[in-house]
Amino acid sequence: EKGGFDWFMEKEINEQPQAVADTLLGRTDETGALVLDELRISEEQLRSVDRITFVACGTSAYAAMIAKYALERWTRIPVEVSLAHEFRYCDPIANDHTLVVSISQSGETMDTLMAVKHAHDLGALTLSICNTHGSTIPRESDGVLYTHAGPEIGVASTKGFLSQITACYLLGLYLAQLRGEAYADDTRVVLTELQETPDRIAEVLDRLERVREIARFMADTRSVLFLGRHVGFPVALEGALKLKELAYIHAEGFAAGELKHGPIALIEPGQPVFIVVPGPDTPHGLHGKVVSNIQEIRARGARTIVLAQDGDTAVEPFADEVIRVPRTSPMLQPLVTAVPLQVFAMELANAKGLDVDQPRNLAKSVTVE
Ligand code: M6R
Repeated sequence: EKGGFDWFMEKEINEQPQAVADTLLGRTDETGALVLDELRISEEQLRSVDRITFVACGTSAYAAMIAKYALERWTRIPVEVSLAHEFRYCDPIANDHTLVVSISQSGETMDTLMAVKHAHDLGALTLSICNTHGSTIPRESDGVLYTHAGPEIGVASTKGFLSQITACYLLGLYLAQLRGEAYADDTRVVLTELQETPDRIAEVLDRLERVREIARFMADTRSVLFLGRHVGFPVALEGALKLKELAYIHAEGFAAGELKHGPIALIEPGQPVFIVVPGPDTPHGLHGKVVSNIQEIRARGARTIVLAQDGDTAVEPFADEVIRVPRTSPMLQPLVTAVPLQVFAMELANAKGLDVDQPRNLAKSVTVE
């Protein structure tokens, strides 16, 4: 049942190209336009949306954070991300022009369910991005956009995460299409690239031997930091969460720009730091800024493990290790950079002799508050 892999998690990591492809399947018509009939929310209602709030927990909340960058860029609708358990208690602002999008792999997370119910009581439109047909959250929502990742058994979310990002991008591109135009990117170009992403993910899966080696060498490590910017920031948070939950190692993710506001004080000789580097063509010169961040921490003795696109040679002088990912446009990069971080955490847990599929203290679905 593990398909020849040692762990369900490993199987699910390897299923990610398929999970993303299946999430994209059947969602365009013959002209290449997006068709999301299953949403159950009318085009008219969707056109009237002037505010979007995502509610989710854990890894699903990181998918929401990534979605915020994309949806605001493509739709210019203000997007907010709220941890579901915080949403209910912060007097959220929502009305019938607010779209509250919940993201839940299981569809049974109690915190997220309660946030959806609260949003409904406030009169908001509720849309569930969910991987589990017939589960509670989609049933309690006005509309649903299923991810088609297939059952996820490992407690640590992997293919669930990539398929959530994919579904969020579909939603963003669809809203942009409904509103007549995308403000910043050509949605057709993004959609075409999104459809090619499963191949990029498969390429990443083919070159993970070095990450595995690094993980095995680091079995005694006590603390690992993860840095990223823009959509790479939630990827850094996700890398840290994976390491905490699987390998029980202290890990923190930061926005790289935040370093000099405090976290750089943590850097001492030998401190391992993963850095998710945006592609060289990322707007606003972000690539150069991250390269400077790497330089700053390296000068203070950090051991830098750099995730960089193919052909990005600028990182090399400051990297102790370079993990290469295929080139993508900036928004799609999380779909490739998340994968080596998943494998790193899994392999490190494995090297420590831990149960990768069932880490201590955790449940697959958190059905209590
Ligand atoms: O089923 P959900 O997507 O609602 O679950 C949310 C979180 O509990 C979940 O992502 C959790 O953080 C995972 N263990 C992360 O790997």
